Amino acid sequence: VNAKMVVDKEFQISEIDPRVYGSFIEHLGRAVYGGIFEPDHPTADENGFRQDVIDLVKELQVPIVRYPGGNMVSAYNWEDGVGGPKEERPKRLELAWRVTETNQVGTNEFVDWAKKVNADVMMAVNLGTRGIDAARNLLEYCNHPGGTYWSDLRKSHGYEDPHNIKTWCLGNEMDGPWQIGHKTAYEYGRLAAETAKAMRLVDPTIELVSCGSSNSQMPTFLQWEAETLEHTYEVADYISLHQYYGNKAEDTANFLAKSMDMENFIETVIATCDYIKAKKRSKKKMNLSFDEWNVWFHSKEQDKKIEPWTVAPPQLEDVYTFEDALLVGSMLHTMLRHSDRVKVACMAQLVNVIAPIMTENGGAAWKQTIFYPYYYTSVYGRGVALNPVVSSPKYDSQDFTDVPYLDPAVVYNEAKEELVIFATNRHLEKPLEVDIDVRAFEGYDVVEHVVLENEDAKAVNLAGQENVKPHSNGESYVEDGKLVGIFPKFSWNMIRLQ
Ligand code: AHR
Repeated sequence: VNAKMVVDKEFQISEIDPRVYGSFIEHLGRAVYGGIFEPDHPTADENGFRQDVIDLVKELQVPIVRYPGGNMVSAYNWEDGVGGPKEERPKRLELAWRVTETNQVGTNEFVDWAKKVNADVMMAVNLGTRGIDAARNLLEYCNHPGGTYWSDLRKSHGYEDPHNIKTWCLGNEMDGPWQIGHKTAYEYGRLAAETAKAMRLVDPTIELVSCGSSNSQMPTFLQWEAETLEHTYEVADYISLHQYYGNKAEDTANFLAKSMDMENFIETVIATCDYIKAKKRSKKKMNLSFDEWNVWFHSKEQDKKIEPWTVAPPQLEDVYTFEDALLVGSMLHTMLRHSDRVKVACMAQLVNVIAPIMTENGGAAWKQTIFYPYYYTSVYGRGVALNPVVSSPKYDSQDFTDVPYLDPAVVYNEAKEELVIFATNRHLEKPLEVDIDVRAFEGYDVVEHVVLENEDAKAVNLAGQENVKPHSNGESYVEDGKLVGIFPKFSWNMIRLQ
């Protein structure tokens, strides 16, 4: 099957904000306890953090990590997790996931861990059971230099310098009936706007994320965005999007097309932001924070069987297949193609809980299949996103029409004089041979063509068993100023040219 593409330096979408390669750690399941933190683990450092996990997170070059939730934040008392002695911190009923939270990790420990992995923290405040007061106190505790009650309390906890956390989420999924303290759009819009006002008075340098819909299927989708933005448009910098996909129907062709839903989701949220902008005669542009995205469905049945009020049980431990990695690749491409508006994105989540990295308590840490597209885009997808002109054969699936087999994203890294082409071939049987016009990149040649392919759509990686991993034997080549991209059937690819 043949396709065509034109790539040019001048067709620029935007500089890519590195924060699109962000991720997320929630106090949920074994993300924190047994994931990033396990004092008895053979690789644990002086603070109880697993060094094997730190090493894998560093490989991913994750620039920012959202914390501490997620649904969990909507009933969280941040004060429970600071100060010592740690053994005396309260154990609480954690209502979102119905487990016991021991509070052995809290704000300061997480900031310490984030430093070790070279990431910034994206902090969420509780707008479920709490509100303006708890949010402004937490911000004062984290960011105020000193000389006040909360900043001096931080110092007394051993943190002389402020944490300087820049990006803050005004609650989590407040449109969802499952959310503790669920609100109507009006209630949330007012509370978020007033919380934002108070937080900006504490620290005017912060950036704020207003909650959008929990997913594109919510019955209030877009009405929620429009009504909440009426209140938060001028005080927030971003609106959030969350989306998870699954393949319960066992329909791979349809599953691989689901990034088209994500594309539509992004475009309709942008349209709604711009509608409010025009309505308000505002000069400000609202950007998007896609701060939860991934495949999530494998573990749902299992999770119904969990004994309530246990400590850090395995929850949401999806074991990802080869085909999941392909959709994850396409979700990343979709966000890169919208990098003019999607400035922050968080793969949800990072360790054990719907995550690219898995661990055994006391044992190994390993890479799930979805680790790979995330790794390559994060490491090599830095610079300017280019808008490729694509002509590809298409197919129809259960939920989508005109699905292009070829799903690319293109990044130009001027400093490295490097052109990077990421591409999913959604064709389950045939390779795609793509004529890529790279005239604007005279003298560039293929440095590396990485391919993620597998005969078995359901192949998974387990501890000590890496069945799905990329190889660098891709066959693309440059000839007469043209790049001939050879993308094997049912594969994810990265071609680097210099
Ligand atoms: O990431 C898992 C959960 O998904 C989060 O806690 C919540 O925000 C979303 O519904």
